[in-house]
Amino acid sequence: MKNRSKSSQEWLRRQVKDPYVKRAHEEHWRCRSAYKLIEMDDKLRLLSPGMTVVDCGAAPGSWSQVAVDRTNSSCRDKNKPVGKVISVDLHGISPIEGSCIFSQSDFTSAETQSKILSCLGKGKANVVLSDMAPNATGVKHLDHDLISELCLSVLTFSTSVLSDGGAVVCKIWMGHNQNRLLSAMKTIFKNVKIMKPNASRGDSSEIFLVGRGYSSELKR
Ligand SMILES: C[S@@+](CC[C@H](N)C(=O)[O-])C[C@H]1O[C@@H](n2cnc3c(N)ncnc32)[C@H](O)[C@@H]1O
Repeated sequence: MKNRSKSSQEWLRRQVKDPYVKRAHEEHWRCRSAYKLIEMDDKLRLLSPGMTVVDCGAAPGSWSQVAVDRTNSSCRDKNKPVGKVISVDLHGISPIEGSCIFSQSDFTSAETQSKILSCLGKGKANVVLSDMAPNATGVKHLDHDLISELCLSVLTFSTSVLSDGGAVVCKIWMGHNQNRLLSAMKTIFKNVKIMKPNASRGDSSEIFLVGRGYSSELKR
C-alpha cells in the first residue's frame, strides 16, 4: 500500500469495501459492472433466450457474460432458443463462450461496423448495449462531449441494425447534450428513460439512456 500513489490507494480502498466487487468475484462476473446490466434487465426485461445482442465497449466482458447468460447464446440450456452476442472493444477481450468477439476494434470505425454487420448476417439485433467510455481528460464538459459522440454513433448504428421492437442501453456522463440525445431517441423509440442502477456509484455522473420499442416507422 505504501508504495502506491494516493489515487491508487484510494481506488484499492474503495474496491476492498465495495460489496459488488466481492459479489462479482464470487459469482464469476469479470467486473462489478455486471450488476448494472443485471439490475436494468431485471427491471425492464430487455434480454431473453434467442435474442441477438451487440455489446459496444465490452472489455473486460461482464456485460457480454450477462448477455450470453440471458440470451442462451452459449446454448447452456438445450431447451431454450439460442441467441447471439457480439462484443466489441478497443482493448482485448478474453474469450467468452457464446460471444463473437472483436477486440482491438474501434466501434466508431466503418471497418468495425461492417465486421459487426457481417457477423449479424441477414439477421437484425434485438438489443444494442453501450457501456463505452472514452479516456477521461478530467475536463467535465470535454469528457461529456466525447461520450456524447460515442452515444450518437451507437444510436446511428442502432437504426441500421435493430429489428422493430428492439432496444438500446447507452451510457452517458450527465451533461448538456443529454436532453438532446433523449429527444433524438424519442424519434425512434416508443419508450425512452434514464436509469441509474444501484450498482452505479453515487459519486459517478454516469447514467444510462434506455430506448425500447424501436420503430423504423417513427423516424419517417
Ligand atoms: C466501462 S468499460 C466497459 C465495461 C464492460 N461493460 C464490462 O462490463 O466489462 C468501457 C469500455 O469502453 C471501451 N471503449 C471506449 N471507446 C471505444 C470505442 N470507440 N470503440 C470500442 N470500445 C470503446 C473502452 O476500451 C473500455 O473497455
